[in-house]
Amino acid sequence: MLRNRSVVSIADIGNDELSEIFRIADDMEKSLKSGKSLALMNGKIMATFFYEPSTRTRLSFESAMHRLGGSVISVAEAKSSSFAKGETLADTVRMAEGYSDIIVIRHSMEGAARLASRFTNKPIINAGDGSGQHPTQTVLDLYTIKKELGDINGKTVTIVGDLRYGRTVHSLLLALARFDTKVNLVSPPMLKIPDYVMSMLPRDFRVDVVDDLQSVIEDTDVLYVTRIQKERFSDPNEYQSVIGSYSISNETVGSMKQKSIIMHPLPRVDEILPEVDLSPKAAYFRQANNGVPVRMAMISLILG
Ligand code: CP
Repeated sequence: MLRNRSVVSIADIGNDELSEIFRIADDMEKSLKSGKSLALMNGKIMATFFYEPSTRTRLSFESAMHRLGGSVISVAEAKSSSFAKGETLADTVRMAEGYSDIIVIRHSMEGAARLASRFTNKPIINAGDGSGQHPTQTVLDLYTIKKELGDINGKTVTIVGDLRYGRTVHSLLLALARFDTKVNLVSPPMLKIPDYVMSMLPRDFRVDVVDDLQSVIEDTDVLYVTRIQKERFSDPNEYQSVIGSYSISNETVGSMKQKSIIMHPLPRVDEILPEVDLSPKAAYFRQANNGVPVRMAMISLILG
């Protein structure tokens, strides 16, 4: 199983392991609700290196470790670490290996977590590598779909937004392809899913690239909305040309099936109007809260 293993891409977690994580996350949730304190990670230390901004991922990882009775040491921004003096990632993880039992990294460079995992025997968790992947987000996304709709199989998932730079989309799409799902991809042409991600999908996976959200909204079980990743654009004019390309409103929600949900990895900017928050279909804050029990489950399985 996951014991002592790094998680740098969603391919590092098999479907059996996903089921195990979901089962333990359910238990963790029950224990959180009961207010019972856990001592499963007593004496264990997590090191978190966030070289890109984060609210949910860093805080939910750290909360998860504290809730398990473990401790956390943290670099919350690149400029407050020796990264700013030119230290390489390889040297950083070699050093962190002696300070901690598990290392969580967010970095602007695609492949950073994979690279880090080659320089340490301690498990490395990818908390987002540039426009690459965000595997633990994907695990909590799948957990949310299962919890909200009862099953992942049989669902139509429509993914809207920045499919080019959105790392959560890349790992989610690869994971959905392992289930009996259908996926619709909706984005401005400039932000379409990269060919390298499409080439990783099985040939028989049902995935449609569609221009118009309205044409698929009535058949959608999960509407997965993403932010345009402003920080990834090298040309500000390109960003200006796509801002406001899509906006989810109560009118959109009105076209959706009765039993359907809206998800978003967050943060959002303007792609879901605040009026939607009042709809029972708005699952994005529940989704963010699932980050703690899911990450508790993953830490417990990795550290044994
Ligand atoms: N979903 C997510 O990665 O959020 P943060 O950037 O706030 O961690």
